[in-house]
Amino acid sequence: MSIKIQDLTVTFKNGVTAVNHADLLIPGGIYGLLGENGAGKTTLMRVLTTVLKPTGGNVTIDGMLYSEGNYEKIQKKIGYLPQEIDLYPQLTVRECLEYMGELSGVEKTECKKRIDKYLEKTSLAEHQKKKMRQLSGGMKRRVGLVQALLNEPDFLIVDEPTTGLDPEERIRIRNLLVDFAEDRTVLFSTHVVEDLAATCNQLAVMKKGEFLFAGNVRDLLNAAKGHVWSCHVEEDWMARKLEEKYHISAKQYTDRGMQLRLISERRPGIECEPCEATLEDAYIYMTNEF
Ligand SMILES: Nc1ncnc2c1ncn2[C@@H]1O[C@H](COP(=O)(O)OP(=O)(O)OP(=O)(O)O)[C@@H](O)[C@H]1O
Ligand SMILES: [Mg+2]
Repeated sequence: MSIKIQDLTVTFKNGVTAVNHADLLIPGGIYGLLGENGAGKTTLMRVLTTVLKPTGGNVTIDGMLYSEGNYEKIQKKIGYLPQEIDLYPQLTVRECLEYMGELSGVEKTECKKRIDKYLEKTSLAEHQKKKMRQLSGGMKRRVGLVQALLNEPDFLIVDEPTTGLDPEERIRIRNLLVDFAEDRTVLFSTHVVEDLAATCNQLAVMKKGEFLFAGNVRDLLNAAKGHVWSCHVEEDWMARKLEEKYHISAKQYTDRGMQLRLISERRPGIECEPCEATLEDAYIYMTNEF
C-alpha cells in the first residue's frame, strides 16, 4: 500500500499554514515522520485519516483519490492513534475496546479475538477490567493503539505512539509496530529520534509545513557525514563560548572538564576529532541553518 501526497497545503482559518505545498511518497513498511513542535506532523496525519480537508493539493492511497465520495472506503483501510486521546472514562478497557471495534464494523467474535491478541501484545491483558479513568497516561496510550489496530488496517497512522511509555513498553510497542508493518504501511511520528533509528528504514523530516528530507535513514546519516566533531574543554567558559558558536548535540562532564559533540559545516577552529553521525546529529544538521 502506498500513499502519494502532492502539493498538499493546509491553511487554517486563523491564517496559519501548517502544511505548505508538500510532496511525499509513503511506500509500504514502517515510515518515520520527524519534526519539531508545530512542524505540521499532526495536521498532515489528520488529512491522511480524512478527518481534515486540505486547502490545496491531493492525496491518493493505492491510486484512489481522497475525494469525499471515496472517504468511506478510505476510512475502512485506516487505523489512527491520535496524539491526544481520551476514551470513555466510565468504561472498562475491555468495554471501551469492544465499543470501538463495533464502531469500526469489526465482526463481534473476530473483534474479541483481536482484543485479546492486542491486549496481550501491549501488556494490557491484566488491566482490562480497570476503568479507563483509572489508567496511567502510558496505559491509555496503549489502549489507544489497540483501538487503532482493531480493524487491522492496511494503513496505520500513529501520532507519537511512544510518548509517555516506560523504556520496556516503548521497545515492545516499537517492535509491535515493526511486526504490524510487515505487510502493511505504518506512518509513525515522533520527536524521539532513537525510536525511528530503531524501527524505520525510511523517514521524512518536516519543518514549518515542508519536507526538508525524505528518504533512507542511511542517506540522512550520509548528509551529516563530516559535520560532527568531538572536543574536550577544561573550563566552563570555553564550553559556553562553543555553545554560542556551534550546535551542540551532547555534552558530558569528565574528570578534567567537559566533552562536547559539535555539529558544524566546517571543521571547528579548535582541537577536535571527527565522529560518526548519529540520527540525532543528522536531524540537527538537517533542520538548522549553518
Ligand atoms: N486547528 C488549528 N487551528 C489553527 N492552527 C492550528 C490548528 N491545528 C494546528 N495549528 C497550527 O498548525 C501548526 C502545525 O501544528 P501541528 O499540530 O500539525 O504540529 P506538530 O508537528 O504535530 O507539532 P507537535 O510536535 O507539537 O505535535 C502549528 O503552528 C499549530 O499552531
Ligand atoms: Mg503533533
